[in-house]
Amino acid sequence: MTLKTNIGNDSFDSCMMNASGVWCSTVDELEALIDSKAATFVTKTATLAPREGNPLPRVHHFGPNSINSSGLPNEGIDYYLEALANFEATHPNRAFFLSVTELAEDQIETIMQRVHQSDYHGLVELNLSCPNVIGKPQVGYDFETTARILDRTFSYFDQPLGVKLPPYFDLSHFDQMAEILNRYPLTYVNSINSIGNGLVIEQDAVTIAPKQGYGGLGGAIIKQTALANVRAFYTRLKSDIAIIGTGGVTSGRDVFEHLLCGASMVQVGTALLQEGPAIFARLEEELKAIMDEYGYTSIDDFKGKLKDTI
Ligand code: SIN
Repeated sequence: MTLKTNIGNDSFDSCMMNASGVWCSTVDELEALIDSKAATFVTKTATLAPREGNPLPRVHHFGPNSINSSGLPNEGIDYYLEALANFEATHPNRAFFLSVTELAEDQIETIMQRVHQSDYHGLVELNLSCPNVIGKPQVGYDFETTARILDRTFSYFDQPLGVKLPPYFDLSHFDQMAEILNRYPLTYVNSINSIGNGLVIEQDAVTIAPKQGYGGLGGAIIKQTALANVRAFYTRLKSDIAIIGTGGVTSGRDVFEHLLCGASMVQVGTALLQEGPAIFARLEEELKAIMDEYGYTSIDDFKGKLKDTI
C-alpha cells in the first residue's frame, strides 16, 4: 500500500504535512518535520522583514480546537530562503514549500520578485488569507485584488505556485473565486486557512489578547467547512490545479475524508500543535487501516470519489 501523491511535478511519499504556521517557524522545527512521517513541510508564512506578531497571549486551545491571532510572527524571507537552500542541499530528492505574503499589494510583488530572483526554485505558497493582521482585511475575500495580484505575479513568476485561501461560505463565492483561479497556471490551491474572527469565551472573558479576542478558529470544529471548500474547488477548478486540504484533521478518518473530497495532500494545524510531529505516524497508521478495510492500495483509488448518495 502506498500514500504517494503529487503536487504539480513534485512527488511525495506521503499525503500529510504541516499547515503553515504550525511547527515551521525555525530551522529546528522544520528539521523535526523532516525527521517525522510528514511528507514534507511548508514554512511559516514569511514577510520581507522579520515580524514579532501580535501581543501575547495570542493562541488558545479549547478541546481539539484552537483560536489564534498570531499576526504573522516570522523570521523574514532571507531566513527561510537560507533554510531551504540548506535543506535542499542535504535532502536533494525532496521538495519543500515556502509560504510568503506581505501586507500591501506592491509589497506582495516585492516579495514574489525576491523569491523569483533567489536560488530557490521549489514550490511557493502565496498566503492570501491571514485573518490576524491588525487593520488588514483578508485578500482572498477581495476578488478583484486577488485577480490583480495573480495577474502581476504570473507576468514573471515561473516556479510552481499555489495560493492559500480563506474559507468561503456561499456557493456564488466558490464560483467567482474558481473562475478567477482557472485563469492562471496555478500548481495548487490550499483550502482553508483558519475561520477568521471567531470569539472564544472562558470565565466570561475573551481568551486571547489581540483584536479584543477575535481570532482564527482551527481544529475539529472547522472540518466540515474545510471539506466543503475542498470539494467546491475540486469540482470547479481545472484538473491540473491540485487541491491541498487543510482544516479539522485530528484522525486518519479526517485525512481520508479530505482525500475523498478531492485533496491531493492534507495539512494538519491545530492537532499538530497539540500532539507534535509524532502525529504523522498515528495519522498514517489510521489512514492505512481505513484503506485496508476498503481494499484500496493507493490514494488514487478513492481521491475525489465522494459518492452522490448515501
Ligand atoms: C498568523 O500568523 O496569524 C496565522 C497565519 C495565517 O493565518 O495565515
